[in-house]
Amino acid sequence: MQGNIGIIWIKIAAVYIVLGIGLGIYMGVNENFALHPVHAHVNLLGWVSMALIGLIYQQFPLIAQSGLSRAQFWLHQLGLPVQMLMLTLLIQGNTAVGPVLGIADIVVGAAFLLFLVNVFRNLKA
Ligand code: HEM
Ligand code: HEM
Repeated sequence: MQGNIGIIWIKIAAVYIVLGIGLGIYMGVNENFALHPVHAHVNLLGWVSMALIGLIYQQFPLIAQSGLSRAQFWLHQLGLPVQMLMLTLLIQGNTAVGPVLGIADIVVGAAFLLFLVNVFRNLKA
């Protein structure tokens, strides 16, 4: 998987843009914009961030091969679906999911921290 990790990020990003746009169309058709934060983050954490990360790893294969890159991948891939599901439930009034959402937020945030460390430690001019 390591050699192609950039491609995998981009393929998963392509799935998220379809989901994000689907939700946008659903909101528009129903004239109910309550889920706009879910739509925004499916598009921005799912599509935009993942596609950018994938392109960066394609451009710089050396940093794509680090253990940090793999750990970042799994934290982001496991955290984001939980985060989006919990955010949806919270918006629908299930306040009990707040702590789980908080943990998922931190997991996704941690993925970006690993990216930061990877870029600063391993990206060379
Ligand atoms: C056909 C594609 C899309 C449709 C139909 C759509 C539809 C919508 C709708 C109905 C809203 C809610 C507006 C409101 O609350 O007043 C919205 C908000 C938003 N959309 Fe989309 N969208 C699309 C694509 C995208 C894409 C590709 C992105 C990002 C890459 C994006 C980012 C956002 C953001 C950040 C917001 C929140 C704006 C705010 O909080 O004011 N959307 N979109
Ligand atoms: C773990 C990661 C993230 C967390 C926990 C987070 C959290 C939040 C929160 C709490 C809000 C306010 C929502 C509201 O007022 O209803 C928000 C809004 C927003 N965030 Fe994020 N965010 C994250 C990542 C990102 C990223 C990576 C981007 C862009 C690439 C982004 C773009 C936005 C935008 C455009 C809005 C305003 C749109 C809206 O409210 O629908 N966020 N975010």
